[in-house]
Amino acid sequence: MGAHTARQLLALCDLAGLGAAESAAYARAVNAALGPVSERPLNLPPVLPSFLSDDHTPVEFSLSFSPGRAPTLRVLFEPASGFGTPADSSLLAQRALHRLAGHWGISTEQLDAVSDLFLPDEPQGAFSLWIALELLPGSAPRMKAYLNPAANGAQHAERTVRAALRRLGHHHAEADLPEGDQLLFLALDLGDWPEPRLKIYTTHHGLTPTGARALGRMPGGPTPDELESFLRTAAGVAPRDNPRLALRPVQTCHGYTDTTGTARAFTMYVPVRDYARHDGEVLDRAVLLLDRHGIDPAALRDALGALTPRPLEDGVGLISYLALAHQDGRSPRVTAYLSSEAYRVRPPNIR
Ligand code: TRP
Repeated sequence: MGAHTARQLLALCDLAGLGAAESAAYARAVNAALGPVSERPLNLPPVLPSFLSDDHTPVEFSLSFSPGRAPTLRVLFEPASGFGTPADSSLLAQRALHRLAGHWGISTEQLDAVSDLFLPDEPQGAFSLWIALELLPGSAPRMKAYLNPAANGAQHAERTVRAALRRLGHHHAEADLPEGDQLLFLALDLGDWPEPRLKIYTTHHGLTPTGARALGRMPGGPTPDELESFLRTAAGVAPRDNPRLALRPVQTCHGYTDTTGTARAFTMYVPVRDYARHDGEVLDRAVLLLDRHGIDPAALRDALGALTPRPLEDGVGLISYLALAHQDGRSPRVTAYLSSEAYRVRPPNIR
């Protein structure tokens, strides 16, 4: 599995303008953090039904596009995926994170402050710790840690998130949690970010395009029109229709960079794979969205070709999410989440 995902990572690094040596170092670092699963033959079933991707590959890529710049490549992975008991893999995952952080001189202070809340001795829920690296040409990567609010049981998710917010000094955000029907992740930017964010992800089951208008709570963030039109295009909803999106839910993320309780970043994630017939259709929608933001779609086409030789019409889910991301003072970004499909290609949806 590690060979498969490393080959994809190297190809994407090349597209994102990284040098051969740094790309190879990232591929090695990710495989080392994945642990034994990286050696596992792909003809054996996944060792764990990882929640990270639909086919349970513990790696997912994303390309974040903004106008006039090369896209930024990120890789999300589940360290120590499926190793031993959940307690074993959680412990190993924490070690892997600290090893990577140490290697690049990234401070884990924020994470360490809340580790006991999210990484208990007997972790529950669909995952325990994910790591994302933002891979920038010629400089150290930026790291993000994803934590599971349901680590102490789904019924305690809100309490766990609230405790973490208080601990990290975000009392205002705690008093005014973003809306949604499920708290899915709490993520922390670690290390040398211009403005490290604490991010809270929530789901919106059964959202309608007009319902999306009210999602963002970020001053200067996306307008109601932008949210509705992004969702319509991404999910393929005709102008007059207003259906509930009843399959996988739209998600949003509010990011806090200071302790005022005001979100400085906001992202809406549309799980396009449930709302399209095949990846050809998803790519067409992505191209429309990129176009609308003045972004050249060539790199996205190339990226899909670099991930797999299969025709886009033969499956759905190579692009798992399309997201619209706003952050204070920057131009909006469109992000495509890209699946490895190491284990399985989801057949096209028949409607
Ligand atoms: N696979 C999970 C999901 O689809 C988690 C996940 C992976 C995710 N990448 C994501 C969620 C990107 C939102 C955005 O929900």
